[in-house]
Amino acid sequence: MRIFSGIRPTGELHIGNYLGAIKQWLALQKRAECIFCIVDLHAITTPYEPKELQKNIKKLFIAYLAAGLNPKKSIFFIQSQIKEHSELAWLLGTITPLGELKRMTQFKEKAKKHPEYINVGLLNYPLLMASDILIYNTDLVPVGKDQQQHVELSRLIARKFNNTFGKVFKEPKVFLAKSGAKIMSLTEPTKKMSKTDNPNSSIDLFDKAEDIRKKIMVATTDSEKIIKYDALRKPGISNLLTIYSCFSNKPIKEIEKEFKNIGYRIFKEKLSQLLIEKLEIFRKKEKEFKNKTAEIEKILKQGEKRAQIIASATMKKVKEKMGLSK
Ligand code: AMP
Ligand code: TRP
Repeated sequence: MRIFSGIRPTGELHIGNYLGAIKQWLALQKRAECIFCIVDLHAITTPYEPKELQKNIKKLFIAYLAAGLNPKKSIFFIQSQIKEHSELAWLLGTITPLGELKRMTQFKEKAKKHPEYINVGLLNYPLLMASDILIYNTDLVPVGKDQQQHVELSRLIARKFNNTFGKVFKEPKVFLAKSGAKIMSLTEPTKKMSKTDNPNSSIDLFDKAEDIRKKIMVATTDSEKIIKYDALRKPGISNLLTIYSCFSNKPIKEIEKEFKNIGYRIFKEKLSQLLIEKLEIFRKKEKEFKNKTAEIEKILKQGEKRAQIIASATMKKVKEKMGLSK
């Protein structure tokens, strides 16, 4: 079974990225062949600073390592280094109806957020994502809930290609976390936790202990003082319970019992302690790898070589089927 997933190197990484994606990758790494990508070509579809991009790539890869992903087991590489991804995205674009791309929720949301930056790359984003996935004959794609629609579109594109030109692609399936597939903002708990919002809305994997505590202590809750999961009526406390449960691996019911008749303040103190403890490794690894750029580059080059072999073989088949010269 083959797994493929990726994260955009856009700056800070938050606990939503960890719980929705990376934590699932860790479990899958034990039982499947995994490819984990740093999707830099996707990162440039929203406003970005060219000078920061290489720094963000390095930081993202350190986060992968700090989380416990293992380059001896899995393949890691930078998307833009394998040109076949962009090439295949173009070819897939010729069989994808425009309407499918226009109806994607992420496109609509990002277009609304950056009205001055509605570029064609943003519209074509799911085509590149489909090519990332399909080029490696992927079976499962572990992502957060917000990416489910894109994986489903990749499935549709694979089927359309196979029906039109003959079978080349597997139809990939999405893999969602049972809990933690959609972590909400700490300040506005009816919205998804996201990188670019107000800094108090997310806990970053590299946050300092005092910042983690500060953000959890001011996280939006309600006036009831009852620690109970009820996503509709108590979105704030429910989100904090989900985070507690995912990091402690305890069921929510058990946590509710543990904090019965105990106020929000103490619960938040305990959650801060738990997060500080679990995220300490990220800052530690960041220091450790600060001057090990050569080592990081070596791992990524090795991964690239392995990925390139698979990508070239798939492209050869695609071109044959489409009647293009090899
Ligand atoms: P991105 O930062 O958009 O490249 O997302 C990287 C991964 O994190 C993807 O699998 C997303 O679906 C996942 N993700 C992003 N935000 C959240 C969130 N708030 N909760 C759970 N998963 C998320
Ligand atoms: N679009 C994904 C996100 O924003 C990142 C991504 C790009 C991805 N290509 C992928 C995820 C392929 C899984 C598989 O989170």
